[in-house]
Amino acid sequence: MRTIRTVDELRAALADAGNIGLVPTMGAFHEGHLFLLRAARKENDVVVASLFVNPAQFDDESDLDAYPRDEARDAQLAAEAGVDILFAPSLVEMYPAGFQTWVDVEGVSRGLEGEARPGHFRAVATVCLKLFNIVRPARAYFGQKDAQQAAVIRRLVCDLNLPLEIRVLPTVHDTDGLALSSRNARLSPEDRARALALPRALARGAEIYRLGGDAVAATRAALNGLTPDYVELFDLDGALVLATAVRIGSTRLIDNVVLEVPCQASAWLGPTNKGELP
Ligand code: PAJ
Repeated sequence: MRTIRTVDELRAALADAGNIGLVPTMGAFHEGHLFLLRAARKENDVVVASLFVNPAQFDDESDLDAYPRDEARDAQLAAEAGVDILFAPSLVEMYPAGFQTWVDVEGVSRGLEGEARPGHFRAVATVCLKLFNIVRPARAYFGQKDAQQAAVIRRLVCDLNLPLEIRVLPTVHDTDGLALSSRNARLSPEDRARALALPRALARGAEIYRLGGDAVAATRAALNGLTPDYVELFDLDGALVLATAVRIGSTRLIDNVVLEVPCQASAWLGPTNKGELP
């Protein structure tokens, strides 16, 4: 595996590549990332993982400062997952002096995470569009864990006629049920125990939904004292999703569960634990 830091070098390295699979990331790899990387390995000739902690998508400076970074470990894990190129650009490589173009995906970026984190999806959409233009992948891989992000990217690709397929893979949960997240590393053992109310509450909400009840109320009631930023049922790409975000101390955690999958959207699967590829 090669680590490449500049756009020019990356373009040269990919000049004769066949089908490229891209996995955009901010590093601090866990099994959720590795699941995407392995899927990309299976489905493409060349796999590129990007590692760039995108400052523009953080609305909270302390969250950006505390974001875990360990490139050496990530490089090792990426190589083991079969990645060919780790693209780890500097800040000025991605946002050189004079940078002033932003892409705003309107409707689907509003509400939920978009409301809690103003400007977040504009920055995510912009950096992903840049990565798509730089790497020119046949497929790019995203996790359902960030369901709204995946929907924003799908809309971007559709609206701007970008020639790539967006693959959205199921959320990987830890053995105790908590969705894997780079931010979990910041939880104390006590906070982690409290955080388990999040997946449990979503599971309860999904159960009540299946019984014909009020999924949002059931989720709220099962949060065990955690105060959510939101608990909402919403339509993402035709899939009905129950999503919530909670703050535990200074750490913000999100998770969601798909309640109804549209019949033709096979990429939207229900929650699994380290499941098989769809
Ligand atoms: P990051 O948080 O590093 O996540 C990279 C990818 O891994 C995202 O598509 C995310 O949804 C997926 N992912 C995270 N946790 C997961 C889990 N438990 N199971 C399955 N997939 C999981 O999301 C970002 O980075 C950034 O916003 C990015 C798209 C790279 C743009 O900067």
